[in-house]
Amino acid sequence: MRGIIEKLPYLHALGIEILWLSPIYKSPFIDNGYDIADYQAIDPLFGTMDDFDELLAKAKTLGIAIIMDLVVNHCSDQHDWFKQACTDPNCEEASYFYFRESVNGHAPNNLRANFGGCVWDKVPGHNNLYYCHFFAKEQPDLNWFNEKLRRRIYQMINWWLDKGVAGFRVDAIMSIGKDPTFPDFPQDALGDGMCACSAMNLQCNEATNRFLNEMQEQIFRPRQAFTVGEVFNLQAENLGKFIGDNGNFSTIFDFGPHEHVCGHCAYYAYEKLSVAQLREEIFKSQRAAADYGFLAPVIENHDEPRGVSCYLPPMWHNSLGAKALGTISMLLRGIPFIYQGQELGMLNTRFNSIEEFQDLQSKEEYRRCLRQGLSVSEALDVLNAHARDHARTPMPWNEGPHAGFTSGTPWMRLQQDYQQVNVKAQLADADSVLRHYQKLVSLKKDPALQTVLTYGSCTELNTPYANVIAYTRKLAMQSVVVAANFDEGCATLTLTRRGTLRLTSGQVFINENQLTLQPGSSAVLVLA
Ligand code: GLC
Repeated sequence: MRGIIEKLPYLHALGIEILWLSPIYKSPFIDNGYDIADYQAIDPLFGTMDDFDELLAKAKTLGIAIIMDLVVNHCSDQHDWFKQACTDPNCEEASYFYFRESVNGHAPNNLRANFGGCVWDKVPGHNNLYYCHFFAKEQPDLNWFNEKLRRRIYQMINWWLDKGVAGFRVDAIMSIGKDPTFPDFPQDALGDGMCACSAMNLQCNEATNRFLNEMQEQIFRPRQAFTVGEVFNLQAENLGKFIGDNGNFSTIFDFGPHEHVCGHCAYYAYEKLSVAQLREEIFKSQRAAADYGFLAPVIENHDEPRGVSCYLPPMWHNSLGAKALGTISMLLRGIPFIYQGQELGMLNTRFNSIEEFQDLQSKEEYRRCLRQGLSVSEALDVLNAHARDHARTPMPWNEGPHAGFTSGTPWMRLQQDYQQVNVKAQLADADSVLRHYQKLVSLKKDPALQTVLTYGSCTELNTPYANVIAYTRKLAMQSVVVAANFDEGCATLTLTRRGTLRLTSGQVFINENQLTLQPGSSAVLVLA
């Protein structure tokens, strides 16, 4: 936290207005802090509550609001509630969890946890009793059907809001809807007799929405909290329950492209997206949200590989590609999020062995690859494409030891390009990805464009090029064209009228109403 305080001026110069912190609560860190042992304590690994209060206050003076990660589908098995529940399965705290007796000597049903294995494990010390966990076994799921539990969660939320946080990023929230009878499900494509637990969540959206609505009406709305939901697999017609005037969140992340890549149950079956498919996903989300409210465009986060590596063809795994992809993402209709290092155009890391990975999910996916018959080197290739660890390497501040992140020993190896791709080098280079992101943010906030870039419609611009992504933001008489060329050749777009270039990356030319983008370039143009 001292590090974040030190870097607040950097974030301010980037132009951001909200800072989302991944979990900094007390945790045994089985899942990088998404296993919380005390919702109202800061883990000493990050600092103290005084540090947090200082961060909050200093951020405020720079106009930066802080939002916390709200992880309430589950807690840690080290949380007092769970410890008490294990000691006495008849106590009140036990009813905060899903405790079930075995069925015919087996686990209550055949759901597979998100990180592998069965969602059921035995309650320590009770041979015939199981608890449910949709993630790791150290992350027991909380029983949202229990009103007392919900009250305690709301108290905790209010406590943070009273402190002055602006709101929350709401974690794994679609997992809270469950069928408390826990029936068996038909086995899925992994062929292990089990079914991914998300199948149950998909059937229980009604319960989820009921809980979310209560939380919105009783807490978030009256407190005017800003919330961004981690919501997957939503049908377009249900979007109005999540965003907009009647939605249960301020916004939700747009995971369209990500969901397309990982529509299969194991990393080894994930798809590589073409630029055309990426474009299709982007505009599918834009069209769906248009009538309701704002989505939050993202190209990467702590659960995904780096966006440039994941979504662009190899020839654009460079600063040109990063700037063009950033341009497209940042100016869409919505509330864009920048994930640390994205603004430097960081690429995936080359991990050389399974030991270099930290994430429990990477380890499970590695085992799945081997079970599927892949060789060790093929399994590493799969992780090198899809692992969450890519986004979890230390932030590179400079070319020095540990990339200037720490004088101690970082938790994980550095991304291999840190000597070139770091904040210090990019601040010194007027043409860097970082400088481009700064310009993108300030363009979005430019008083002359702010309204159209916030509220204006977003319509795909059809071009004859398979690898061009282009759109128009439009409000009343104002039109802004945003375009990026990921093709190997030049692309020339014919616009409805002449315009003025406001921001470019790479090489861009205009001639009357013809906009020509060299390979890898992007442009933002205000039509006359
Ligand atoms: C969310 C988080 C992820 C975590 C999981 C379980 O998906 O983003 O990092 O592992 O929830 O809490």
